[in-house]
Amino acid sequence: MRFPSFINTSRTIFTPFNMRHLLIALPLLIAACGTPAPEPGTGTTPPPPREVNVYSHRHYDVDQQLFDQFTESTGIKVNVVNAGGDELMARLEQEGAKSPCDIFITADAGKLGLAKTRGLLQAIQSSTLEANVPAHLRDPQGEWFGLTMRARVIAYNKNKVKPAEIATYDALTAPRWKGRVLVRSSENVYNQSLLAALIARNGPDAAETWAKGIVKNMARAPKGSDTDQLLAVAEGIGDVAIANSYYIGKLMASTEPEKQKARETIGVVFPTFDGTHTHVNVSGGGVAKHAPHKAEAIALLEFLSSDAAQQRFAEGNKEYPVKAGITPAAELIAFGTFTPDTLNLEALSRFNAEAVKRFDAAGWR
Ligand SMILES: [Fe+2]
Repeated sequence: MRFPSFINTSRTIFTPFNMRHLLIALPLLIAACGTPAPEPGTGTTPPPPREVNVYSHRHYDVDQQLFDQFTESTGIKVNVVNAGGDELMARLEQEGAKSPCDIFITADAGKLGLAKTRGLLQAIQSSTLEANVPAHLRDPQGEWFGLTMRARVIAYNKNKVKPAEIATYDALTAPRWKGRVLVRSSENVYNQSLLAALIARNGPDAAETWAKGIVKNMARAPKGSDTDQLLAVAEGIGDVAIANSYYIGKLMASTEPEKQKARETIGVVFPTFDGTHTHVNVSGGGVAKHAPHKAEAIALLEFLSSDAAQQRFAEGNKEYPVKAGITPAAELIAFGTFTPDTLNLEALSRFNAEAVKRFDAAGWR
């Protein structure tokens, strides 16, 4: 397996040592060899530059902007490796105690929990993170912390559907929706986490019955991303779609003609399990088990949970802040309000394997 190389925030790519570097470095090396080390107390050896190494599944501009801001305010350089969550976990496992990774960031609480189970993270104590991140959106042992929140909602065709008809996740299994439901594959972790939450709430059999009901009503065999489901609603391929809230926020903010057309058609409902609570998930991060820069890693996670960073995540990526008192993006406020489920998201990894099994039993590809 090939892994991507480190990219640092100043956009410098580490390249093999070449002749030009050698010519620049040689006189410096000679000078350094001829210079005796300063006597204790008489000279100052500058401390090595502070840095923090991030393995991230997220690839958004807003993340890079926040890392740059962090560097500006602390002097700590942020080096980022971007790859898929599973790939990064495999890399962490392979590198073991020699891993340079300080923070693992991914876009699903189930995956964060999996990283914990595989022994890739370590527990940290931070009163800042504990104050900024609600208890149900972080690991009870402090191995990972949610940094942005998203709701898994239902988008609908405003010309064909009344929002009251789809007030719950269960409503989508009613016979009236036959051939009208759009949703991506069960291989997608957002769907696995939704089903894991249903298992936690109602038990595995009820969750499987729900999955079977959705399969029966699908407008087409699952394919594409959440955004593809939204566009398919606008195209009339189906009338209701399950998608994460930020994809809808981004669609509403988009300047692309296809998406601008779609946003005139699409409305949003926050479905509930029980008349009150809507399924939420997080993007988040944890300190790696063998982090060489643990203090810097904690400082970066704390920064990402701060008011300023939470506001940037909200505006830049249309994600809900995890921290109380931060205003969501205008595009999300327009959809209305909802009550997030208070299930500790640790359950999403605990029931992931069961969710995958039940999806298979239901025939949800
Ligand atoms: Fe996503």
